[in-house]
This record gives sequence, C-alpha cells and structure tokens, in this order.
Amino acid sequence: MQRVRKAVLPVAGLGTRFLPATKAMPKEMLTVVDRPLIQYAVEECLAAGIEEFVFVTGRNKSALEDHFDAAYELEATLQQRGKARELQQTQDATIKPGNAIFTRQQRPLGLGHAVWCARDWVGREPFAVLLPDELTIDTPSCTGQLVAAHERTGGNVVAVMDVPRAQTSSYGIAAVKDEKDGLAAVTGLVEKPKPEAAPSTLAIIGRYVLTPEVFDHLDRHETGAGGEIQLTDAMAKMIGQQPFHALRYGGQRYDCGSRIGFLEANVAVALHREDTKADTRALLGRLMKG
Ligand code: G1P
Repeated sequence: MQRVRKAVLPVAGLGTRFLPATKAMPKEMLTVVDRPLIQYAVEECLAAGIEEFVFVTGRNKSALEDHFDAAYELEATLQQRGKARELQQTQDATIKPGNAIFTRQQRPLGLGHAVWCARDWVGREPFAVLLPDELTIDTPSCTGQLVAAHERTGGNVVAVMDVPRAQTSSYGIAAVKDEKDGLAAVTGLVEKPKPEAAPSTLAIIGRYVLTPEVFDHLDRHETGAGGEIQLTDAMAKMIGQQPFHALRYGGQRYDCGSRIGFLEANVAVALHREDTKADTRALLGRLMKG
C-alpha cells in the first residue's frame, strides 16, 4: 500500500465573513494566538508524516507563499540580535525546499473543483485534504488518525463529528453503519442537507484521506448543492466501489470560518498552551468580573 505523502490545502476562498480583515489579507493568515491558521494545518500534516503540500490558491493569496518561504533579512536580523527563540519560530514556519506547490483555482466553482485543480500534482496515490478554516488539535493529529485508519482499511476516510440537527445544512453529512471503536462504514454522503432530510447528524469536519479515484469523478465537473462542484458528491460516487469509512473525531475542533468560532479558538488555544495559560486565565477572570 502506498503511504500518504501529500496534502491538498484548498485556500482560494474569499473570507467574506471576516471583512474588512480579509480585504487585503488571506483569511488563512488570521492568527490564533501567534500563528496563522494555515500553519496549524501544515503542522497537523507534518505530525502525520505528510511533507508535501499543494496550496490551491486564488488572487490576493501571495502572503501564504511568503509565509512558508525562508525570510532571509528577518532571519539575519534576528541572528544578529541574538534572538534565538524568535529565529527558531520563524524557521519552524518554513516548508522544505521544493515541497510546497502553489496553483490557482482560476474560478470559484466549488471545493470539488479546488481539489481537482491539484490532480496532476497528486497523481495516482492516496492524499490528504485539509480545510484550514477548521482548526483541530489532538494527539495524534486528526489527519494522523485518518492516515492510520487509511492504513487499516486501504480506502477513503473522512473525519466526522456530531452536530445539532439544526446545523446539518452547513456540512457534508455521512450516513454510517457498523461503527466500531469510532470507525464506521459510510453508506451515504450528502452535501448540506436540510435538517429534515439529513440521513444523520454526523458532519464532515474538513479532514479527508482520499484515494486518487476521486479525481475520476471530479473530472466530470458535475455540479451539486449550491450549483457548485462538490467534493462530497464525488466522494459519494466511490461508496461501494472503494472502502469508505468515517472516523469519529474526539479531539478539539474549532470552526474558524465563523467569527465566534475563531474567537473561541483563540481563547481555547491560549488556555491550553503552557506559555499563555496562566495569563489568559487571569485575564479572563478580570474581564468577567468587570
Ligand atoms: C465544506 C464541505 C463540507 C464540509 C465543510 C466543513 O463546506 O463542502 O462538506 O462539511 O466544508 O467545514 P464549506 O464550509 O466550505 O461550505
């Protein structure tokens, strides 16, 4: 079986929910405590042994490319000033030479189309997809758990979590059977069903390990929910053809595509991290009293 070596990061979205912050800056550069969302996604992949990345970008996204490059002047200055910690933090945000590819989704035709834009680079091997709006924190990482499940099942695996029924129309929803130790066989996938039509309340949380056959379906450019080319629809076509499982994710997950979810992520990560924990607790205590 081929190892999962590559990740596709769809980052072409406009981030309209964060305007004006995202007027001149990609939404994936929004910061949770001290690093941009995109870096969490890359670090999640590295923790899963994935070291090659394709970013499917759009206009105004060049900051993403700069972020993962070496920053010669900055690094030289930090070195000169003896700022070892800051230098390390800067260098940690670098992707190995030749391991990051940037390609543009030239038209906003949907998530399925964005992933399809990476087809030639991925080739015929299994790959991960991460939507950086969703921040997940766990050990092993959410993507690491999917990779391990892929190695056990040999097929496609998506991470899912239960959501309130009223929210099914915001997600891809999975129907499953035979759940054992958090892993279940997928029997159906529907993109953004109305609550009354949803086959379950198990939502796909933007983490996938897929087999390259998904490109054979995406190649057809069929549109689905919202008139877009949906990744969920292409995945649904593989059920019965390929092993397809849903992994119930039990770690922390924040929906950073919404303002309140993003705020929650900042507070939660600050409360979780050893270096910011105590100060954040004290700060929140003061603010709540006021
Ligand atoms: C996308 C996917 C959806 C998934 C969601 C997770 O939707 O199409 O299946 O559940 O991400 O965040 P979007 O939020 O981009 O509309």
